Amino acid sequence: MTRREHRRRERRLSHHPRLPITTAPSDWQSWQSWQTSWDRRQEWYMPDREERFRVMIDTVEAVTDPTPRVLDLACGTGSITDRLLRRLPGAHSTCVDIDPALLTIARGHFAGDERVTFAEADVTRPTWTEHLPHASYDAGATAQRFALLGDPRQPKPDGGARRDRPTATRWHLETLRGQGFSEARQVWCSASDALVAALR
Ligand SMILES: C[S@@+](CC[C@H](N)C(=O)[O-])C[C@H]1O[C@@H](n2cnc3c(N)ncnc32)[C@H](O)[C@@H]1O
Repeated sequence: MTRREHRRRERRLSHHPRLPITTAPSDWQSWQSWQTSWDRRQEWYMPDREERFRVMIDTVEAVTDPTPRVLDLACGTGSITDRLLRRLPGAHSTCVDIDPALLTIARGHFAGDERVTFAEADVTRPTWTEHLPHASYDAGATAQRFALLGDPRQPKPDGGARRDRPTATRWHLETLRGQGFSEARQVWCSASDALVAALR
């Protein structure tokens, strides 16, 4: 709409008391458009991102009851929580991220939804769980955040060299088992990416 058309529209609408004289979207629409633009950008890097989310939530659904309490780790704008709540409306989610700007979009997107809570925290710090509203969760979900688990190019604790690529599935499985998860396995993969699930 040109500036002239906009002025004309404002003049016309100002005579109609029930219609707003602004073209600004509602707050929710505007947060939604930030959320959509984030999703588009992430999909550019990872075209099968939705497929991976689907399998991730299939896995949560398979191992929990229909009202799980979930931790969305390194949540960004909360895309995983969004897909989770669409599939499992009885779920609750805590969105954790280090970036206050992304958390602001997530807070706007889920405004008024009591199923969603937020925590600004650096999950590489030993005390990060102190920022969480709950002491325990039924499931944790994360995507595109392998760096949080440490750098697999560093030597192993036993001094041996790691030859894995940073994204190697085997490294994730070993790390999860080493952290006390009894069962850890790959549940989905594409040509360039994989999703792993682990049970305590
Ligand atoms: C590529 S984005 C993925 C976001 C979201 N999981 C998704 O799939 O849309 C990685 C996220 O990790 C967050 N992040 C990076 N380092 C972090 C840290 N140390 N603690 C918490 N969040 C972190 C970033 O702020 C960013 O939101």
